Amino acid sequence: MNIQWYPGHMTKAKRMMQENIKLVDVVVELVDARIPISSQNPDMENIARQKPRIVVFNKIDLADPSRTNNFVKWYEDRGVSVVLVNSKNGKGINQVMAKALELCKEKIERNRKRGLINKPIRAMVAGIPNVGKSTFINKLVGKASAKTGNKPGVTKGKQWIKLKKGMELLDTPGILWPKFEDQQVGINLALIGSIREEILDTGELALILIEYLREHYVDLLTKRYQLEGISEKKPIQILEDIARNRNFIQSGNELDLNKAAKIVLDEYRNGVLGRITLETVG
Ligand code: G4P
Repeated sequence: MNIQWYPGHMTKAKRMMQENIKLVDVVVELVDARIPISSQNPDMENIARQKPRIVVFNKIDLADPSRTNNFVKWYEDRGVSVVLVNSKNGKGINQVMAKALELCKEKIERNRKRGLINKPIRAMVAGIPNVGKSTFINKLVGKASAKTGNKPGVTKGKQWIKLKKGMELLDTPGILWPKFEDQQVGINLALIGSIREEILDTGELALILIEYLREHYVDLLTKRYQLEGISEKKPIQILEDIARNRNFIQSGNELDLNKAAKIVLDEYRNGVLGRITLETVG
């Protein structure tokens, strides 16, 4: 994600979020459905404490549906609204709008009683870098929308985008960082390809992924690379088998393990390996 995540940046982003939150009625927090825990910002709950919050599981097309269901249930048991979205094709986007209006029902009613019949509900999209905020906003905004101008006095310097159905969206997404201090969070972000500055090299990452897949998604791994007897093998031996099966040979007739590692990671990230979630809940 090519981010500078040194503390100064993080503090500034947090401060901006705290300021922007005050301007909206509802917060739409995006997480990556493949790592719903690691892609969450630990401060978000606190920052959005006073506002209705919708957790959007984005990139749902890449995640394991059965694990997603468990996560949804977990959130719903705690009274948090979850919507499943594929921002690339727009699936679930309308549900986000409907849910936002539902959560703001009382506010809309209060406005109505005060004679503010057409006062739009204001929303903000937030999430960690690369979770798909821009793609999501573009789909949400669609064609049937137009930017409203600045509204001096009320929302100084902020641009609002008019959406359908009586909603406005703050045009700058709220960006907060994941919990980098937790090493597993860093590994998960690297596995889905969200951090460019890889905390581990490609080979190490691929071995971690292979080990995870062998444990949790053995059929998908076996099928994709035509592997055999992998429960007995170490991750490095599995990587060698993949290189051999794909004929990745380098000069000196050696197996090209780097190439195999890159392929495994790329194919996971692009969903070619299947719908795979790297975390569980409960
Ligand atoms: P950001 O603003 O939060 O930083 O994220 P952005 O929208 O730029 O999206 C980051 C990447 O995630 C993009 O891929 C985008 O296409 C992809 N993406 C966003 N939502 C979804 C989704 O629901 N499903 C899938 N499969 N991908 C999604 P990219 O590789 O950077 O670009 P490209 O593939 O679009 O060319």
